[in-house]
Amino acid sequence: MTQEQTRAQEAPPQDLPSGERSHGRVRQSGIYLAGLAGGRPSVPVEWSALEAAAGAALPAASFGYLAGGAGQGHTMTANAAALERWRIVPRMMRGSATRDLRTELLGHTYPSPLLLAPLGALECAHPQADLAVARAAAAAGVPYVFSSQASVDMETCAEAMGDAPRMFQLYWSSDDDLTRSFVQRAEGVGARAIVLTLDTTLLGWRPRDLDQGYLPFMRGQGMAQYLSDPVFRSHLNEAGSPEPGSSAAPPTPTPALLDAMQALGAKGKHHGLSLAQMLAAVARFSATFARPDLNWDDLSRLREWTRLPILLKGILHPDDAREAVQRGADALIVSNHGGRQIDGSLGALDALPGVIEAAGGLPVLFDSGIRGGADIFKALALGARAVLLGRPYAYGLTLAGEAGVREVIANVLAELDLTLALAGVPRVQDLHPGVLARA
Ligand SMILES: Cc1cc2nc3c(=O)[nH]c(=O)nc-3n(C[C@H](O)[C@H](O)[C@H](O)COP(=O)(O)O)c2cc1C
Repeated sequence: MTQEQTRAQEAPPQDLPSGERSHGRVRQSGIYLAGLAGGRPSVPVEWSALEAAAGAALPAASFGYLAGGAGQGHTMTANAAALERWRIVPRMMRGSATRDLRTELLGHTYPSPLLLAPLGALECAHPQADLAVARAAAAAGVPYVFSSQASVDMETCAEAMGDAPRMFQLYWSSDDDLTRSFVQRAEGVGARAIVLTLDTTLLGWRPRDLDQGYLPFMRGQGMAQYLSDPVFRSHLNEAGSPEPGSSAAPPTPTPALLDAMQALGAKGKHHGLSLAQMLAAVARFSATFARPDLNWDDLSRLREWTRLPILLKGILHPDDAREAVQRGADALIVSNHGGRQIDGSLGALDALPGVIEAAGGLPVLFDSGIRGGADIFKALALGARAVLLGRPYAYGLTLAGEAGVREVIANVLAELDLTLALAGVPRVQDLHPGVLARA
């Protein structure tokens, strides 16, 4: 343990801001009081109930896309197990009446160590999709990372957020001009950083989606950043390049196919595109999404394209962290994409300490498996600067749109707040590995 950590553990901080920054008790008593009158939270607080309620509310294909993982789901299990293996060791009598969740990241101070992860194709969850999330994030002061695969374009979301913090997550297309256009647009909408996702140069093998024959992008879903992009649109009158496997005969015009075409046509209308252009858009997206040859030199190029801080999402190996530092990354995100890319990968939290050690002081963020405030507590105690919340807010969105996302954010932060109080560490910045024990 460092001297600083020892000091933090021995002496309760005296210089907390006077106002109560944390609302765990307020949230808790609000729910119990409403319960007296028979009220129950419309968005379940308990994780498995939340997931089950979202599952019951959605068609199987949509829920499968949100909840599913790669292969047999072993990586998702490993994410939960990695968190479970650490236990919190509470300290008593430390005067934790006021908590301080404020977190500094890349020159900005945020009210809490929480960000909303980029989630593609959120129209699977709710028709307002990213727009509802953007509004909820702005209301909570929680930074929202816009996805490259968003269902609402970044300009519309940014406008709905006012000055509230956002970042842009980049999938590096095989069309460099498009990638560069995304980066420029992100700068234009006031993104505070580019989050380059490294783990999805190809789509993982996802049995739940395969068994439903369902990929949102084939239906034009989750493509708003592309359909609104001048570079992407400039290609839509060209004949699409054939996709691997697309040499098969065209599908029979079944009622399902006609429905899909109708939905594609309606989406095209929204973007001022004809059905033929939408078909070209899907073909072009399919042909250019994959970038399996992405390499470290690309990061150096991205560095030249933008002055925004660059966060690398998907780092799991210390050597990759070292390379990222050398190549000028500003922060890293330890993540295995919520177990959606590789089956049998290590639990993300198991990778965190090694990456932090190799990152040489660069901020390291964490996602993959965060379900509640105690999980956040553990990730921060192991050294993460902040965490990204994923599936839980998608389920809140499913159940109650913007209000549902707000509920989930409030619940997660309330639990973090109460956990800090009960564990005797009132400030998130004072968390350190000594507050945990290996199970
Ligand atoms: C439905 C869904 C869509 C996702 N889309 C993206 C995406 O577009 N870009 C990205 O970088 N990560 C994406 N992710 C990964 C998340 O950003 C995050 O890493 C993951 O959700 C963390 O796992 P958890 O939700 O199980 O905690 C997606 C995850 C889900 C569940």
